[in-house]
Amino acid sequence: MKFEVLARCPTTRARVSRMSLAHGETALPTFMPVATQAAIKGLTPEQVESLGVTLILNNTYHLNLRPGVDILTAAGGAHKFEGWKRNMLTDSGGFQLVSLSKFTTITEEGALFASPFNGEPTMLTPEESMNIQHSIGADIIMQLDDVVPSLLRVPAWKKLWKDQLDGRSAAPPLSASIYTPPDMQNLFAIVQGGLDPILRDRCLNGMLERQHQVAGYAIGGLSGGEEKDIFWTIIKQCADKLPEDRPRYAMGIGFAEDLLVCVALGVDMADCVFPTRTARFGVALTHTGPINLRLGKHATDFNAIDDTCPCPTCKSSTSRAFLHHIVTHETTAAHSLTIHNIVFQAQVMGRARDAIIAGQFPAYLRSFFAGYFGDRG
Ligand code: GUN
Ligand code: ZN
Repeated sequence: MKFEVLARCPTTRARVSRMSLAHGETALPTFMPVATQAAIKGLTPEQVESLGVTLILNNTYHLNLRPGVDILTAAGGAHKFEGWKRNMLTDSGGFQLVSLSKFTTITEEGALFASPFNGEPTMLTPEESMNIQHSIGADIIMQLDDVVPSLLRVPAWKKLWKDQLDGRSAAPPLSASIYTPPDMQNLFAIVQGGLDPILRDRCLNGMLERQHQVAGYAIGGLSGGEEKDIFWTIIKQCADKLPEDRPRYAMGIGFAEDLLVCVALGVDMADCVFPTRTARFGVALTHTGPINLRLGKHATDFNAIDDTCPCPTCKSSTSRAFLHHIVTHETTAAHSLTIHNIVFQAQVMGRARDAIIAGQFPAYLRSFFAGYFGDRG
């Protein structure tokens, strides 16, 4: 990976950078839409690419269960399997094991869980997560982490992924190949430690010792409904101590207001199912706050969701009234709103990049928050 910081905000920790991976460049800060089952729900890969998305997230946990490593390997990796030409990051499976699977037990070796298909005990070790992620062939792969409040196990597991990394070339050449081979994949470490600053520091320090082995760092274990001030404090603590020359990724963060606070604190990347999931529930994100198109008040509103929005839904003048009419019974509504919400997230981050470059980031924050939380009558 090539990572270059291009501009810094003089008053906050926000920065603009360029990350070059095997499937092209991604401008940071960026928001990654989530393709849990190898697809952004409701959209084709061509549509996602046409919206300007250059980096998506896939889940190791889901891809391992279905279609499974054998099919992914036979297909020549997930890019080819799903027809996605740009960059891809795979989450390691640790978080999904805890959040989705019943009876998960974490041991020093890995995570023991019951297969959701046949109930059989299945063990996911750090090496296996790494091997599955090698078969998927994503451009960025994540360490298998353990999302619990007391996180002293991550450093123990780290010993296991160290061996996988020895012999990697430090600066792989850029290539347009579909499958990103293991020696060109970029491993990100994940800082855990829950909401406890002392545990966070302990985990952080352990991770920092491995700097020569990781391309970037994620901050995990948040987005669990914790108080905002605790969330900000932990992000700040981690982002302040993480190295300047690596991307910083806040996992599971997707509300526009949280994204912008994270960017101000020095975060470069984030992902969340929120914008695409809320679209399927009939909610459009706008610069004056989310709007729920299921509500009756939209039945006679013939305006676009946002007539200044460059997305195909708004540009084709699809009206709020029409979306309200179809929202509960036509999948078209979910497609149209998913497209709009992906473009909205990209705009929030794109405007942040432009403002940082122009030296106007604090002013952008003020105008965004005034618009988003201002009086809407
Ligand atoms: N997605 C949201 N939070 C987390 C986390 O802490 N770890 C992982 N692996 N994925 C996440
Ligand atoms: Zn739009």
